[in-house]
Amino acid sequence: MRRKDSDDLVRVGPGTVMGGLMREYWLPAAMSSELERDGAPLRLLLLGERLIAFRDSSGRVGVMDHRCPHRCASLFLGRNEENGIRCVYHGWKYDTEGNCVDTPNLAGNPEFKNRIKAKAYKSVERNGLLWVYMGARKEAPPLPEIEATLLPEADVTISFVQRECNWLQALEGDIDTSHFGFLHAGSIDPDDVPEDSLFRHTVANRAPDYHVADTECGTMYAAYRGAAPGKTYWRFANFMLPFWTQTPQGKFTEHLHNRAWVPMDDTHTMFVSLMWRRHPPSIGPNKRGEMMPGFKRQFDYLPNESDWHGRWRLKGRPINDWLVDREAQKNGGNYTGIDGIHAQDQAVTESMGPVTDHLFEHLAPSDRMIMATRRRLLQAARALAKDGTVPPGVDNPDIMYPVRSGDFVTDAKLRWREAYEAQLRASVRPLQEAAE
Ligand code: FES
Ligand SMILES: [Fe+2]
Repeated sequence: MRRKDSDDLVRVGPGTVMGGLMREYWLPAAMSSELERDGAPLRLLLLGERLIAFRDSSGRVGVMDHRCPHRCASLFLGRNEENGIRCVYHGWKYDTEGNCVDTPNLAGNPEFKNRIKAKAYKSVERNGLLWVYMGARKEAPPLPEIEATLLPEADVTISFVQRECNWLQALEGDIDTSHFGFLHAGSIDPDDVPEDSLFRHTVANRAPDYHVADTECGTMYAAYRGAAPGKTYWRFANFMLPFWTQTPQGKFTEHLHNRAWVPMDDTHTMFVSLMWRRHPPSIGPNKRGEMMPGFKRQFDYLPNESDWHGRWRLKGRPINDWLVDREAQKNGGNYTGIDGIHAQDQAVTESMGPVTDHLFEHLAPSDRMIMATRRRLLQAARALAKDGTVPPGVDNPDIMYPVRSGDFVTDAKLRWREAYEAQLRASVRPLQEAAE
């Protein structure tokens, strides 16, 4: 990879190529539950910009540059009261749209406030998530139609987890399927896995073959292996611009899990996971009915703190070697010695350093999905930067709705696109179900 390509992929601040691409889309920024009416403002780091979010007395949410437009004191210290945030330095007050509504230190000059506007971004709440639009359009584009984001809040498990590294290496863990049989399941003996579990194929053959292709809104892959004679075991996954994935950890037709890797800055990322509750991804117990070592699903969080990097951190971090347990690694049947599938992914991607040195890598045929995704990102970001080409899914968000992932077994004669189309047709669509 060329240095220029690498820089264009990983940098997300204002004025960068990838930052420009991401600012075209609505970004999932926080859970609605993080903001209390007239409560303390939330420090929000998004695409390298230091923002605050607050919920006013009427329940509306404001998202704006944390600096007061008067003399740049932080509005994080502000008083959230009577439908606005009041800067504690000289008392200027702003509504959720950034309009200055009061300048009490300017006696006899009540008109002055009309010349002042805080740098506010459009935000919308839907189904438990706060979305922010940081782009240049006066009228924001339509909201995303990614399937899990449309489900009622009660039907979805929403999780946020911070990762201490660049967004791209974090995301690439989701589209790097051959790591599963090592990082997560390297010590699992296929004979310990129940005969009827599809997961058995992943550990019986740890070197799948692949198909990779561009799609209308991103990229997709199918990893495949022989199953029973005349049968193929498939694992399909997707990347959707600019930072969404769907991983194959569940039965294709009923598994609905959308995952976003939202850059906080160049070296910190917020993972946002929306999982349909009815069919959570599950790798069942072994033949003896025990959970397989290292497969814990819950997140072990540190308490949230109010600083810029204080939200949704895990206990296992670079500074404590991700709590690796060498005894569990050697004798405990846990390949990494780290407990929890997400924690294992977190450890390896953070261990690459704050930003992966792409010039040090040696990508292999098993990394074709990663190569295709980097190309797709660069192509979309550069087309926007150069010619103003609107990226896919911004004005036509419906193209992201039908995308699905998961695993299944078919007749070996079926071609991969046919197999995918057939599964899509058979997929459960909770929203359509509800409408009927
Ligand atoms: S710096 Fe905010 S009111 Fe003066
Ligand atoms: Fe993983």
